[in-house]
Amino acid sequence: MSLDLDTLSFLLLGSISTVALLSIRNAKGPDVHPLLLNAQADPSRLRHVGETAIYRSRMHPNGSPLMLTMDRNIRTLHDLFELGGAKSNLNAKFLGNFNGSAVVWQTYDEVKRRVDNFRCGLATFASLTPKTNDASSFVGVFAKSSSETFIAEQAANSHSYVTIPIAASARTTFISHILSTTSLTTVVVDKETLPILLSVAEGTSVKYVIVDGTPSHAELASANEKNIKLEEFKNVEAIGAAHPTSPVVPEPEDICSIYFTKASGKKAGVVLKHKNILANIASYIAIMPPNQKVTAADRLIYSYPLGNVLSRVLTGMLSYVGGSIAYGCEIAEDEEVVDITRLQTCAQQAMPTIIASGSLAFTQIKDRIESHYGNSFLYKRGYEAKKRTLLNEGRLVVDNRYDMLVFRDIRQKTFGGSLRLVLFDNNGDLGDLPTFVRVVLGAQAVPTYSRTEASGTITASMFFDYAANPASRGSPTPCNEVKLIDLPEGYLATDTPNPRGEICVRGNNVFSGYWGDSNTTSEVLDGDKWFMTGDIGEWLPNGTLKIVGSKK
Ligand SMILES: *[C@@H]1O[C@H](CO)[C@@H](O)[C@H](O)[C@H]1NC(C)=O
Ligand SMILES: *[C@@H]1O[C@H](CO)[C@@H](O)[C@H](O)[C@H]1NC(C)=O
Ligand SMILES: *[C@@H]1O[C@H](CO)[C@@H](O)[C@H](O)[C@H]1NC(C)=O
Repeated sequence: MSLDLDTLSFLLLGSISTVALLSIRNAKGPDVHPLLLNAQADPSRLRHVGETAIYRSRMHPNGSPLMLTMDRNIRTLHDLFELGGAKSNLNAKFLGNFNGSAVVWQTYDEVKRRVDNFRCGLATFASLTPKTNDASSFVGVFAKSSSETFIAEQAANSHSYVTIPIAASARTTFISHILSTTSLTTVVVDKETLPILLSVAEGTSVKYVIVDGTPSHAELASANEKNIKLEEFKNVEAIGAAHPTSPVVPEPEDICSIYFTKASGKKAGVVLKHKNILANIASYIAIMPPNQKVTAADRLIYSYPLGNVLSRVLTGMLSYVGGSIAYGCEIAEDEEVVDITRLQTCAQQAMPTIIASGSLAFTQIKDRIESHYGNSFLYKRGYEAKKRTLLNEGRLVVDNRYDMLVFRDIRQKTFGGSLRLVLFDNNGDLGDLPTFVRVVLGAQAVPTYSRTEASGTITASMFFDYAANPASRGSPTPCNEVKLIDLPEGYLATDTPNPRGEICVRGNNVFSGYWGDSNTTSEVLDGDKWFMTGDIGEWLPNGTLKIVGSKK
């Protein structure tokens, strides 16, 4: 991969002199100029006592407005779906469900029709009121991620309803907590989560349940007994087709979703507006260098459950560019023993170009590949040779002789052979996992640091930073700014060699509060809108953030 002018000028939207760098590049040079790796963020000149400087993306440095959207005409997730690239790619595959043996695809055209029908069906079937930004607008979605959960969320948001996404693996106490704090009346479920919802719905506010699949007689009887109207997903679509209504389109300041998570040791609902999630999607698109841009040719699979806002951010990115998303590879987040068999069979069928995952699944994939090939002479020789090219010369190559001899075959068998990018969301030390991904799987690896309260990603590693400190999570994305504040337990802005402290983030992606819990909100959001994450960080000299741990 040679460095092109676009990549450079893109990365140089800052202070370093382009001319000086261009004059020394050549085709066999590193994928990125080393000087760019030395200054990955823009720190503010001024800083307050007890705090570090404020670090920004070099693309939106201090003094400029933070990124809000990728396109002035796109102000909400409704706009994104209606105006994004998927629209101009009408007959291409858009959303797919992996059914255990094959991926069943739908085009944007089909999905768009289903979103409209489901929106109208929902408005007719459940007695909700759009735009109230309170319980009468709330729609719970409690299921494994699928094309149908995408359709349900998109439909709800297109009518100014607020979605409350809940992971299929959520515990019943967690679900009960959500029902009681939000007074949720309407919930979309799948065949597996229906019995769980019914088991906790007695005496709650739940009145309308929409199930993707056919409920059993016993389930119908149980719903009936609890005065719940239970309807099949496809029937709600049919109701909508028969009762067309215009969408009540949302505004950027309207609530898009509430994601329940743990905050200060308690369960709390993170209120995210359309503009918050949109800013995160726009930033993801912006940080991709030109020769790595996400395009209509890209296909995403991810292992995050529905309750993780990253699933919304990443699918938003793919809809914007008109790429495709294959569902069915979800891995429950709190499981320590992750079963990657399904992820792998799904990937072989879906042939993703992008995989987003925590590191657990990839650690297992690495173990599997190493136990299978690790003793082969060619594998070992190839690994060492490619690792040298990567770390010493700063080049990721996918077509040298070792690729032909061993790695191409591994790539084919592991993820179908098209993978080019792995996005890691994980706070721990990734060790040599990114190097493994680059060498063996031939893909770019981009570790990130995310929090629900920031609509997903806060910092992301720079592409091509192959020798990065494995505990670093890169620099702030363009929609937010980050500073560290002193912690009495001994992490200080004045620490040497590097400043340390509690990670604080502010920006267009940052939430406005926890649902109905102003006390917990005021514990973590200060008067200047800084969200104090409770995570401890350290600024490395090149402007990247290392995660040190969490506050007790
Ligand atoms: C999965 O989908 C394929 C293609 O539509 C179909 O042939 C197959 O029978 C399905 N398998 C299951 C288990 O539903
Ligand atoms: C930080 O800077 C060094 C060079 O000073 C570079 O080699 C390294 O890859 C950079 N990135 C990280 C995340 O540590
Ligand atoms: C919130 O804080 C106020 C003042 O400290 C207190 O009176 C109130 O009970 C708290 N509310 C909850 C729900 O904890």
